[in-house]
Formats: sequence, structure tokens, C-alpha cells
Amino acid sequence: MLETLVRQLNMVRLSVGALALVSLVGCTGLIDDGNTGLTKEEAAARNAWINSAAPVLTTNCVACHNGSRPMIEFLSGADDIERRTAILAFTPAVINLEAPASSRLLTKGVHDGPALLASEASDILEWIKKEKDAQPAPEETGPTLETVQFTPLICTAGTPPAATCPVNDVDLTDLGLPGAKLHFVAQALGSGLYLNQLSVIAAADGLYLEHPLFASYPADGSETRFDTIDRFFNVKINAMANVTESIGGGTAAFIGFTATDKISIHFKALKAFQPDAGGGGGGGDTGGGCKALASFKTNAQALFRTAVGGAGNNCAGCHLAGNALSAMNLTGIAATDDPTIQTVCNQIRTRINTTDLNQSGIYLAADPANMNHPFKFTAAQLTTFKNGVNVWINAEKVAP
Ligand code: HEC
Ligand code: HEC
Repeated sequence: MLETLVRQLNMVRLSVGALALVSLVGCTGLIDDGNTGLTKEEAAARNAWINSAAPVLTTNCVACHNGSRPMIEFLSGADDIERRTAILAFTPAVINLEAPASSRLLTKGVHDGPALLASEASDILEWIKKEKDAQPAPEETGPTLETVQFTPLICTAGTPPAATCPVNDVDLTDLGLPGAKLHFVAQALGSGLYLNQLSVIAAADGLYLEHPLFASYPADGSETRFDTIDRFFNVKINAMANVTESIGGGTAAFIGFTATDKISIHFKALKAFQPDAGGGGGGGDTGGGCKALASFKTNAQALFRTAVGGAGNNCAGCHLAGNALSAMNLTGIAATDDPTIQTVCNQIRTRINTTDLNQSGIYLAADPANMNHPFKFTAAQLTTFKNGVNVWINAEKVAP
């Protein structure tokens, strides 16, 4: 099955033991409810930041995240108090108050910067939970944007519309968007739930959404599970009437979700099309087109056009027409002029996940274990393909 695709996700998960410990030690901090004008919860959150979280971040993370590099200055500010304001307000969000353990700050792992030690992550998680407690009650912040809980229909063989491969169309009418749907095909994995064709289908009002977060409700009544890497944290989609947009590359593997359990999807924002908000890609980040076009041309373009490891293995062989074109449009992949290459690069970019490269639709689709896609690489060919294309994706990630 798809186990090999998703095994690497475990690297970013915090040990469950560490999390349990944190909740036990949650109530011991000094609480300042004196003359500060703060609620007890707000004071506890501020103390946890100053005593536990800020020291860790100052030692390990401030050097690069204080504004010395553009776009990632979530620790800007002259002191701890200013930095707390900055990190809580930063977009795309690195703190997730709805599902604290999924916060990007905790799941980021080793990158240009170091990974957090388990003990450091626990300290920071403790702080985020206190910030969550300090939030106003939901009645004061407006309605919760969450779909009904439902058991996904599972595809066991073939592709839609085969009787063995039903689609899921979650109606968004009750959330204020009559006729709009969230669409996907689900497969069961030993370790979780795999979705493809993940997209939103706008109706007459069009659709604007921010930050979809998948949750799973274990049948045994144990604690709700959230997407462990909160992969869609920076997704914003602004779709005009009757348009379909894929979410985060259209594919996602949710580790730890049981296929027979109910799921729901939370949204940070969900409303009608916003004429002033600009077009919105549904990519694994804030959308927008390719910025590292030179790298795309050098490292990736040919891999989509010509065969990798044998005749007939090229993506362009199918993705210039029919269903394959609607799934990922490679029109212009053979072009030599920048404006046309930019268009096709933008198309491919909607199918990459910069948060977790291995979760990119372009890799999951052609993985040897994917039973839905008409073409599969061998494991070795997939590696060759990734080695080239990842050079470009990594360039996109750091492009200003
Ligand atoms: C040597 C510089 C450096 C240090 C030190 C550093 N980072 Fe980063 N960080 C980066 C760069 C560059 C990016 C943007 C590219 C990327 O996302 O990998 C980034 C991005 C991030 C993001 C953005 C969210 C995302 O996934 O896109 C998070 C969260 C993050 N770092 C957390 C941390 C934490 C936590 C620490 C301290 C333990 C840390 N960083 C230390 C360089 C650094
Ligand atoms: C033999 C024809 C064929 C080849 C070769 C092919 N594809 Fe596809 N691909 C399709 C078809 C058909 C679909 C639409 C499937 C559907 O409607 O469910 C598709 C869908 C996709 C999707 C969307 C998956 C989803 O449902 O969200 C991605 C991404 C994709 N292909 C990537 C690739 C890449 C990358 C390559 C080259 C490595 C490739 N394809 C090669 C036929 C092909």
C-alpha cells in the first residue's frame, strides 16, 4: 500500500508520551492576576511564554526569525513581549490554537535551522495550550466553521465512477455556501487515511476559504485527532462561481486517522468569493505562481516532458488532453519561451506541497503504490524524478 509514502511523516510527530506529560504539569505555573488587567488564563499564558517558550526560541531560532531574513520574521520585536505578539499574529500561522500540537512551530523539524529537542517542544506546547485557554470563548468569536462529522466512503478498487470507488462530496450549504462542496476520494491505509482529488467545488456564490484542518473522531471516544502536520495551514483559496480548485496539491495522507472513524473539516474562514482578495491558488502555501522559474527550467521541466527510466513514462504523454489535463494541465511543457513556461510551471506548482515535499501530488500520483493513477513509476524511477524536481521545489521554498 502507500505505507512507504507516509512513513517519513512520523519524523515530525512528537512522541505521545511527551504530550501526555505536558498536560499533567499544566497547572503549576505562577499566576499573575494582580493589577495587570489580564484574566488568569492570559496571565498564565504570558508567564509560560516568558519562562518556558521564549528562552528556547531565543537560543535556537531568533537569529534567523527576527527579521534578518524576509517572510519568516515570526520572532520580530525588541523583547519577549513584542515577540509573543508577533508570533501569535504571524501569517501564514506558525501557531495553531485550535490544535496546539499541530503548530508549524513544533512540527517544522530540522531545516536551515535545528529541530527542537523533545523537552523544548514540550515547553513550547505547554505555552501554546495556555494561549488556547486564554482565547475568548467561541460564542464571542462567531460561529465555529466546521463541517458535520461523517464517515468517509472508501475506494477499494479502481477509480471513480467505478462502483468500488465512490467519491465524497461534503455539502457546504450549512456553512453558508449553498451548493458548494468539498470533494475527495478516500482510501484506507494501515497507518491512516489517504485522500486524492481533494478539491473545493464552488457554486453560484463562488468560495473563499482559509486554512482547512482535518479532524478524526475515534469510535472508542478517545481524544479527537488532528492532522499531525497541519499541512494546509497556509492555504487560501478564492474561487469564482462554479470553479473547482484543488487543495494543497489534491492529495494528502493523514497518519493516525482510522478509515472507519468519522471525520470533519474545520476552516479558519469560509465565505463567498472575495472580489478584492485576488485569485487564490489552492497550493500547499499562499498560492501564487512560480518564482524560481530558472530552476524549474534547469531541473524539472524536462522530467515532466521526457521519459524517466524508460519509454512512455513521461507525464506529458497523458497530461495534455482529457481527464489527465483537467487533473493537471501540462499545456506548454515543451515551450522554450519564459511566458509559456511560467504558465505550465504555475500549473505544476498547485500540485506541490512545500510543507512536506513527499506529500506533493506530483509524487503521490505516480508512486508505485498508488492504485488510482493510470501511470506508476518504479521506486527507482520515482527517486530519479524526485531528485531532479526537488531541486526546483526547494528553490521555490526559499524564493523571496
Ligand atoms: C540558520 C537559520 C535558521 C534558524 C536558526 C532557524 N530557522 Fe526556521 N527557517 C529558516 C528558513 C530559511 C526558513 C524558510 C524556508 C523553510 O521553510 O525551510 C525557515 C522557516 C521556518 C518556519 C516556517 C514555517 C514553514 O514550515 O514554512 C518555521 C515554523 C520555522 N522555521 C521554525 C524554526 C524553529 C522552531 C527554529 C528554532 C528551533 C528555527 N526555525 C530556527 C531558517 C532558520
Ligand atoms: C498513462 C497516462 C498518464 C501518465 C503517463 C501520467 N498521468 Fe497523471 N493522471 C492521468 C489521469 C487520467 C489522471 C486523472 C485521474 C482521475 O481523474 O482520477 C491523472 C491525474 C494526475 C494527478 C492528480 C491526482 C488527483 O487525483 O488529485 C496528478 C498530480 C498527476 N496525474 C501527476 C502525474 C505526473 C507527475 C506524471 C508523470 C510522472 C503523470 N501524472 C503521468 C494519467 C496519466
